[in-house]
Amino acid sequence: MGSSVDLAGQRVLLVGATGGIGSPLARRLADAGADLVLVARREGQLRSFAQDVGGRTLAGDCTDSAFVDRLRDHVETDGPPDVLIHAAGSFDLAPIAETDPAVFRRLVDSNLLGPFLLMRAFLPGMLAAGTGHVVTVGSVAGRVAFPGNGGYSAGKFGVRGLHAVLEQELRGTGVRCSLVEPAATDTPIWDPLDPDRRDDLPPRSAMLSAEAVADAIMFVITRPPQVQIPAVAVQRS
Ligand SMILES: NC(=O)c1ccc[n+]([C@@H]2O[C@H](COP(=O)([O-])OP(=O)(O)OC[C@H]3O[C@@H](n4cnc5c(N)ncnc54)[C@H](OP(=O)(O)O)[C@@H]3O)[C@@H](O)[C@H]2O)c1
Repeated sequence: MGSSVDLAGQRVLLVGATGGIGSPLARRLADAGADLVLVARREGQLRSFAQDVGGRTLAGDCTDSAFVDRLRDHVETDGPPDVLIHAAGSFDLAPIAETDPAVFRRLVDSNLLGPFLLMRAFLPGMLAAGTGHVVTVGSVAGRVAFPGNGGYSAGKFGVRGLHAVLEQELRGTGVRCSLVEPAATDTPIWDPLDPDRRDDLPPRSAMLSAEAVADAIMFVITRPPQVQIPAVAVQRS
């Protein structure tokens, strides 16, 4: 089946680079010698992270199509990325009857529209090159319904559907796609909800580590070029 992909010198665009999952992933990618472009909205935090890890940065919101177009121009000066990873997204909890429409929109935008805009921007270059890998971080909440997850699951079920279509569209093109679907992972995404103080949420000690999720993403992107892992669930044993 060929050897695993060597990431040294590979151009990797990582959106959500400063996040709980994104930051250990960025470090793993940098250690593997990848040529990184790191994206998140908060510029100061992104710049200081990149000073530590290495890589170029562009701060902005991947749910904004004008920003994503600018990002494509920034990245594609020397060709399309070899790997595009969407590890951004946001989370919130509320029963549907009490969900603020603005919150619902934010959850669907960050978990579904953002990945779509990135695919739309970078697929033409990848398809023309006949190579590339699109990786999106979905969630167990894209397969399983949990109370309070109306907005989040709308985004995550949606992005799973988007990936299923992408998988069909990419057949035979040389471009791969993978959806990585973690269970609850101990990251700052949970901070506003303080799960250790609630009995309706898993305690942080029972969650996956972000490093374990980063490890699963590294596994997916280093499979031999002829091998595609369409979806991978990551759970606590
Ligand atoms: N943690 C979990 O339990 C868990 C479980 C399953 C799936 N996931 C998924 O894994 C992904 C990463 O989650 P995480 O736990 O690492 O979250 P996190 O710690 O909150 O990190 C999110 C990262 O994405 C960036 N970001 C958020 N919205 C963005 C936007 N619109 N445009 C550009 N960058 C944006 C954030 O930086 P800025 O705020 O500076 O933009 C940050 O770098 C998400 O898709 C999440 O749904 C998480």
